[in-house]
Amino acid sequence: MKYPKAFLFDLDGVITDTAEFHYLAWKQLAKELGVTFDREFNEQLKGISRMDSLEKILALNPSLKDLPVEEKERLATKKNDHYKDLIQKLTPQDILPGIKDLLKDLQNQQIKIALGSASKNAPMVLERLELTHYFDYLVDAAKVSKGKPHPETFTTAADYFNIDYKDCVGVEDAESGVQALNDAGMFSVGVGNELTEADYLVEKTADLKLENILEQYSKWSS
Ligand code: BG6
Ligand code: MG
Repeated sequence: MKYPKAFLFDLDGVITDTAEFHYLAWKQLAKELGVTFDREFNEQLKGISRMDSLEKILALNPSLKDLPVEEKERLATKKNDHYKDLIQKLTPQDILPGIKDLLKDLQNQQIKIALGSASKNAPMVLERLELTHYFDYLVDAAKVSKGKPHPETFTTAADYFNIDYKDCVGVEDAESGVQALNDAGMFSVGVGNELTEADYLVEKTADLKLENILEQYSKWSS
């Protein structure tokens, strides 16, 4: 069996359900702007940066399209304030099922672990979940110039470890993230039924079993 050398994890929606908090915070801001959107539209916001998400929301109302940069900055900060209120109460109880066991199994196998997140709040969220010590390297929005779906978030982690991209497995809940992994030439594991482009798809995080992922990775890499 061929083993990968590193696992790269998305944060929001994979390690904890902060994807839901991002959605609620955007919904609140959108309401204040008189714009509505649903969960289907929200799928497009997953994995992409705060400003790119705001642009997509503003595009829903033609009268908001040409706001000055300062106003856009103000709105993005307002969304982040809503989001920070929501994550105040995060505790280790909010780690999604199966994630801690997977992190422990990876450590036992001496496979490197990195975070690949678009969120500027990522280090703080990991701290609240008391998971920081599992990670050998963190890539967040501050470390990359091109966000997902560009592969840079994940290639930055692999380059730091000096590991070939084909020796990396990435875990994602967003289309943009799966695309980033695929374009990097990494093995993509998707969480959620919609991610048909993923090399290996599971329905929920509780199904992320190291043994099964390694089996699928081995087939993919041979
Ligand atoms: C990603 C989320 O992880 O981070 C997106 O999937 C979010 O929904 C993005 O917009 C940026 O997060 P933040 O915390 O920097 O606003
Ligand atoms: Mg995500």
